[in-house]
Amino acid sequence: LSKPTFAIIGSGSIGLGWAIVFARAGSKVAVYDIEQSALDRFSDQLARRLDLLAENEMLEENPQEIASRITTTLDLEGAVKNADYVQECGPENIDLKVNIFAQLMKFTAPSTILASSSSAITPSRIAEGLASNERCLVVHPGNPPYLIAIAEVVPAKFTSADATDRCIAILKSVGMVPIQINHEPEGFVFNRLQGAMLREAYCLVRDGVISASDLDLIVTQGLGKRWSIVGPFATSALNVRGGIKSHVERMGASYHRMGLERGQDDPWDEITVSQVHQSIEKVLPDSEWDKNTEKRDLALMKMTKFLQDLDRP
Ligand SMILES: NC(=O)c1ccc[n+]([C@@H]2O[C@H](COP(=O)([O-])OP(=O)(O)OC[C@H]3O[C@@H](n4cnc5c(N)ncnc54)[C@H](O)[C@@H]3O)[C@@H](O)[C@H]2O)c1
Repeated sequence: LSKPTFAIIGSGSIGLGWAIVFARAGSKVAVYDIEQSALDRFSDQLARRLDLLAENEMLEENPQEIASRITTTLDLEGAVKNADYVQECGPENIDLKVNIFAQLMKFTAPSTILASSSSAITPSRIAEGLASNERCLVVHPGNPPYLIAIAEVVPAKFTSADATDRCIAILKSVGMVPIQINHEPEGFVFNRLQGAMLREAYCLVRDGVISASDLDLIVTQGLGKRWSIVGPFATSALNVRGGIKSHVERMGASYHRMGLERGQDDPWDEITVSQVHQSIEKVLPDSEWDKNTEKRDLALMKMTKFLQDLDRP
């Protein structure tokens, strides 16, 4: 199978991150910006990032080879006309994105996937007024995408299943971990989860419960360390023998009261709990609870050793 050809619109930090992802996977990448100074900075940053990745043994080729697949240009049509996939990384501004997508429609082939990196603007708002918007969607990365492989794939109602599937297949082929999000919720999922914690963190600091730097420590030394190995649902399932349902019996009321203190009345209802239980049971069956808690602990041991020597910001 031939490698897809990529175009990137906007050469800031996210454009740079995607360029590395696509070129590292062996594809040609054309990077467009409206400012030559932005493209010059992009080229400097690209060389620096690729060198750092090479020093850390995270590249399979030398950095120059990867960089040679990336070209920069001020010509939008030239950048996108042969692309199989366009990743828009312009500023987070609705009018600007609508305008860019309208131009992309004119200059690309009818089969080209048009993805926006937007953090919070829904694909409906970006492309609802456009003809042949069935190939438009949001692909929201973590920053930087060449180190955080997750990407939220957010189709609009008008996005075709074929375009979404092709987009997901392309992202997988370049080593990303695409996750499809339904219904275009405000902030998608990554930032909603981050937001739930950040809102609570601000309240706790405001109320004098903890300092901001101590709160960050609770996350880096506690929750964050754990969550890189097991997500919040797997954590619940492995913290209590008997899995998700036992955890809800023991802790559900307390979590509900914490929510009520912040004006959120969302008790964990039986139907949702069963759904979570069934989904987690498939990956972490309760019959293998002892084996899985041991596996979690072994991973935490390795992680703890690794983190001891880490030079953090
Ligand atoms: N920074 C993050 O952590 C992060 C994470 C995920 C998604 N995003 C999203 O990615 C997008 C880009 O964010 P960023 O942090 O790279 O921004 P940035 O400001 O670093 O880069 C934006 C680039 O777009 C260029 N630009 C301006 N107008 C343009 C136009 N009309 N056409 C093409 N390029 C144009 C600018 O010159 C600049 O180089 C935003 O939608 C943002 O919400 C950002």
